[in-house]
Amino acid sequence: MHRRISLTRYLVEKQHNDGRIPPELRLLLEVVARACKRISLAVTKGALGEVLGSAESENVQGEVQKKLDIIANEVLIEANEWGGHLAAMASEEMDDIYVVPHRFPKGEYLLLFDPLDGSSNIDVNVSIGTIFSVLRKQNDDPQAVDPVSAADFLQAGNQQVAAGYCVYGPQTTLVLTVGDGVAMFTLDREQGSFVLTAEGLKIPEDTKEFAINMSNLRHWDAPVKRYIDECLQGKEGPRGKDFNMRWVASMVADVHRIMTRGGVFMYPWDKREPNKPGKLRLMYEANPMAWLIEQAGGCATDGRQRILDIQPTQLHQRVSVVLGSKNEVDRVTRYHNPL
Ligand code: AHG
Ligand code: MN
Ligand code: MN
Repeated sequence: MHRRISLTRYLVEKQHNDGRIPPELRLLLEVVARACKRISLAVTKGALGEVLGSAESENVQGEVQKKLDIIANEVLIEANEWGGHLAAMASEEMDDIYVVPHRFPKGEYLLLFDPLDGSSNIDVNVSIGTIFSVLRKQNDDPQAVDPVSAADFLQAGNQQVAAGYCVYGPQTTLVLTVGDGVAMFTLDREQGSFVLTAEGLKIPEDTKEFAINMSNLRHWDAPVKRYIDECLQGKEGPRGKDFNMRWVASMVADVHRIMTRGGVFMYPWDKREPNKPGKLRLMYEANPMAWLIEQAGGCATDGRQRILDIQPTQLHQRVSVVLGSKNEVDRVTRYHNPL
């Protein structure tokens, strides 16, 4: 009989056999997965669960929050605050960090998340997701009073100890790395558990598929215009092959497609907001995705340098993103960094 490996078993084996993760990190990842299950259930209820529509409030980035943005944020906090594995959390939907309240035990980990990615797709029943990143608090003294500050979170992406995302689409799929490759788990709704469905994911180095919001073309910088223009010229152009385009407008779904069959995803800087480096957020969107992509053999840059080496200065800082199949990301990065 085909042996089914649950996420729980996978993580227990990572702890005991490989010694790759300590028990607190295993617990943390299980709790995040449990929260994702709850969010998945809420998403599936749609109009019946009164989860659609706007919450008529704004987040720190000035974006109007959807009801599901707030619900997903609360689910993740409630699930994670009491387990004793965390010192604090940070989220796209909270201006400041959320320090674990004094009544709960504290741990050494920091959890960052985009609770609901692809908010514009909630009401139209298109794939959305959750993105998360785990860091370890440096020089920690968990017994100290209020030992955590936003500064503790300002670590480069190469310091992550775990990262993942969950896609709420036709299937609910959790994709995870703890630094030894990428594993994929599919939610078995009857059993209520995530089951390992792929391991050691590998993104093809070459691709004929790009993902970018083409409506911003006129606002891009020359290197991005050049790259896309060459793709659009197809067989007759310098690339000598036809390209296909996809843009879901949920980073989670676009990255998941790339994880599955390759491609390149770009959300570059553009002239609409020239003072911001990009639209996507470094700490809880770009960093976890960049690490997952690299762990699957792909690349992730901001057009010029490796995303994981960027030293953050602000919790909600933005970044330009180019990620996916290695040879395409290298090309875009070369166009930005001519010799
Ligand atoms: P969020 O819903 O968390 O704010 O993120 C949306 C992001 C990302 O998921 C997606 O790739 C991009 O915004 C889509 O932006 P456009 O609507 O500008 O295409
Ligand atoms: Mn997002
Ligand atoms: Mn979001």
